[in-house]
Amino acid sequence: MNSPALMQHSTLSVADAIASRRSIRAFLPTPVSREAISAILELAARAPSGSNTQPWRVYVLSGSSKNLLSEKILAAHNDPVQLAEQTHEYEYYPRKWISPYVERRRKVGWDLYGLLGLTREDKAGMHAQHGRNYAFFDAPVGLIFAIDRVLEMGSWLDYGMFLQNVMLAARGMGLDTCPQAAFTPFHRIIAAHLEMPENEMLVCGMSLGYADQTRIENTLVTERAKVAEFTTFLD
Ligand SMILES: Cc1cc2nc3c(=O)[nH]c(=O)nc-3n(C[C@H](O)[C@H](O)[C@H](O)COP(=O)(O)O)c2cc1C
Repeated sequence: MNSPALMQHSTLSVADAIASRRSIRAFLPTPVSREAISAILELAARAPSGSNTQPWRVYVLSGSSKNLLSEKILAAHNDPVQLAEQTHEYEYYPRKWISPYVERRRKVGWDLYGLLGLTREDKAGMHAQHGRNYAFFDAPVGLIFAIDRVLEMGSWLDYGMFLQNVMLAARGMGLDTCPQAAFTPFHRIIAAHLEMPENEMLVCGMSLGYADQTRIENTLVTERAKVAEFTTFLD
């Protein structure tokens, strides 16, 4: 663990890294060096995984490769015919929304749209805001995560730990992130753009960069249920 790359990390406490991570939806153009990205991934890869399988596969996009992918996805997102043709390779969200999840989902959605001054009637405005996902919210770095199709649900559990590590390691370097399932319907466009081998499947995307603190969408603070609501203590 004494790799020079890891020495770049700050001494931000674990608690501070966890508590200060928020999904950021507007980034500054300030670039992030390849060394910094490598250091984040090197640290994140210390995540545990069943039998040390390490199921993660990461594509790091910046510059024209990122911009071109954004253009391709936005073209499909903005074309109703192409948009209707997109399918998911896996269901990230439940097929049936029930309480309490549906209320939580609505709340975070309307809190974000409310900050942006978007009303329920403003379908075009909401579509455009959703489209900001595909520009990686203007972040200088777009991460695309893939997994080998042969791996099962346990590896997806491992993958989540890796993703959280990426976000926390980024915080340790003063960087911010937004994990993005919004990419999943566009897996065919992404796989073709990245020339992903057939055995790889898209997991999600992530924006990485420096938060633009002046932007209203970055003031969103999300709620959490209290510990007593999701925990049973047994003596
Ligand atoms: C795997 C995953 C996928 C997500 N996908 C998106 C997305 O596509 N677009 C987006 O704006 N936020 C996305 N989010 C962010 C969630 O909305 C956010 O984590 C949640 O509302 C809690 O807010 P916080 O991250 O600021 O604490 C995603 C989060 C996770 C963990």
